[in-house]
Amino acid sequence: MIKWGIIGTGKIAYDVGFAIQAQASCQMVAVGSRKIENAEKYARRLKLTAYYDDYDRVLGRDDVDIVYIATPNALHADLIEKALRQGKHVLCEKPMTLRAHRLRQLKELATQRRLFLMEAMWTLFLPSVRRFLSDVKQVGNIRLIRGSMGFPLAKERCFRKDLGGGCIFDLGVYLVSLTYAVLGTPDQFYAQKISRRGDVETSATISLQYGRTALADLLCSYDAHLENTFSVYGDKGALTLEAPFFRSAMLSFRKYGPVNESTDAVRNPFDAFSVLKNAASWKQRLYHRFHLGKRHKIVPFEANGYQYQIREVVKCLETNQIESAILPVEHSARVIGILDKLITV
Ligand SMILES: NC(=O)c1ccc[n+]([C@@H]2O[C@H](COP(=O)([O-])OP(=O)(O)OC[C@H]3O[C@@H](n4cnc5c(N)ncnc54)[C@H](OP(=O)(O)O)[C@@H]3O)[C@@H](O)[C@H]2O)c1
Repeated sequence: MIKWGIIGTGKIAYDVGFAIQAQASCQMVAVGSRKIENAEKYARRLKLTAYYDDYDRVLGRDDVDIVYIATPNALHADLIEKALRQGKHVLCEKPMTLRAHRLRQLKELATQRRLFLMEAMWTLFLPSVRRFLSDVKQVGNIRLIRGSMGFPLAKERCFRKDLGGGCIFDLGVYLVSLTYAVLGTPDQFYAQKISRRGDVETSATISLQYGRTALADLLCSYDAHLENTFSVYGDKGALTLEAPFFRSAMLSFRKYGPVNESTDAVRNPFDAFSVLKNAASWKQRLYHRFHLGKRHKIVPFEANGYQYQIREVVKCLETNQIESAILPVEHSARVIGILDKLITV
């Protein structure tokens, strides 16, 4: 039985807590909060017997094997370090740290102590995303990636730089992490940002360049509801993780049709027959139906979807692996290295 301690009692701590609770090989033993009433409420809801108004008391318990850290971003690094020094395995919310070098230091500490460390980038473990990453070769040589993640968020932590807020760390992390899973480390990247509230960016466009062959164009925002899709375009076709891509249950693929560049069939569009009412809209409909004809594939996930990352943690702990092959710490460090520069430059 793998015994879990929970640090922080915000929204995601509940979602992931229910997923941990649902695994037969896992037991949640203690939760820590800044406030005893939050800890008590969480413990009651998820049926834990021990709860504290102090994170350290969870880390100090001998019966805790692994801690799940669900505090604001800026607090992750120090909590990971404390947990590792107490001999605990760690699953930590995204982004695990705000600096890549800090994460690499923590990875070294985990390796020295033979402790497991992974980012809770749950999206990468969803069945739809596993399928997407294995099917992406169908598009041929990848030329472009386009993705967006945006919805209005009102949480205080999102707008405070001292807590590691901002839409790049909060939402851009999903887009850059998935782009990294497809294409690896970009050669060049930059972002354009605006700030509507607080001292952080609230919308950003992110551009990544891969040599002379591929570009990624990513948009993240607290200011508007975006399409929330993620598409990879190659020279043969395009594959999309349909909205919302970060919890998708549907992929669509469209193979490009033949391009007709011959002038033989070009008709005069102003002759009597062509100038029909609504001709343009019918043409557009046909274009969507036949030219953009997408084939959809449903790839559902069970319950709230957070359990797939928990199963990966369980598998690694049961086989004595200190990192996940799907999401090694270096993947997270590379992504954080990009995000950090996008924010500071
Ligand atoms: N994987 C996902 O889908 C996902 C989704 C949302 C967020 N996240 C990540 O999970 C983490 C928490 O996000 P959340 O949406 O659950 O946030 P949240 O609802 O604001 O909860 C954060 C928790 O952190 C603790 N905390 C400690 N110091 C704090 C401070 N100064 N201000 C506010 N809270 C503080 C609080 O718990 P106590 O009062 O119990 O101490 C609070 O409930 C973030 O790193 C975020 O990026 C992940």
